[in-house]
Amino acid sequence: MNFTFHRFDSIDSTNIEALKQARLGAGEGLCVVARQQTAGRGRQGRTWTSPTDAGLYLSVVLRPTFEVKDVPLITLAAAVAVFDTLAELGATPDIKWPNDVLINDKKVCGILAETAETDQGFAVILGIGINVTSDSYPPELAGTATSVEDELGRPVTSSEVEPRLLTQFDEWYGRLCTEDGPTSIIDDWSNRSSYSHGKQVRVALSSEAITGTTDGIEPNGALRIRRSNGSIIAVQAGDVERLRPTE
Ligand code: BTN
Repeated sequence: MNFTFHRFDSIDSTNIEALKQARLGAGEGLCVVARQQTAGRGRQGRTWTSPTDAGLYLSVVLRPTFEVKDVPLITLAAAVAVFDTLAELGATPDIKWPNDVLINDKKVCGILAETAETDQGFAVILGIGINVTSDSYPPELAGTATSVEDELGRPVTSSEVEPRLLTQFDEWYGRLCTEDGPTSIIDDWSNRSSYSHGKQVRVALSSEAITGTTDGIEPNGALRIRRSNGSIIAVQAGDVERLRPTE
């Protein structure tokens, strides 16, 4: 993929800007990067705190030509790319379904994919936020969030992380676009995630919460949960929380 960059010191949200550019006809590879976001978007309508130079905030315009049913796998490919970037930097990451990247059980990265129909066809805006320094998340989240700098124990900047991430993403998205890509990305994701099999979890769905043990990923990226009565539920969207043995 040929990346072209639109860089901002401050912007509302790189996803909003990339979406705007996609509607104006931007092709695959347009990458919006900001030093600060004033209205960073998280999953499920949440906000993503984005102070200046504390995190990597970027969004890439994609124009996938593979089957629509495989579009949810883009976030899995992105999570694998973030995992490999952090591993390359010396961390020991994990992936929590569908797309939170963790280090030592704390969230270090969030991924938000949004879709749009534009005059030039279907587009996916892939937004990635990585906590680079501990200023990137509010102190009250210190129990559940971490940063690359905290985990590596040395100063780290976004400019160290960004090129590695884009190289990894280019590779993994490229693989997803091949004939066997969709099946192989599920294996690649599963091999990196302690959440893919055998993890006791509670999943908050829109109207209820279910508990059970994770039992692999469906071909469309849904998480399979085995309940205590043996039934299997495939979860398409929800917040997964790990249950510790005492819970
Ligand atoms: C999540 O809730 O875990 C997803 C967070 C995604 C945040 C990134 S930061 C860059 C891009 N722009 C946004 O407004 N959101 C994403």
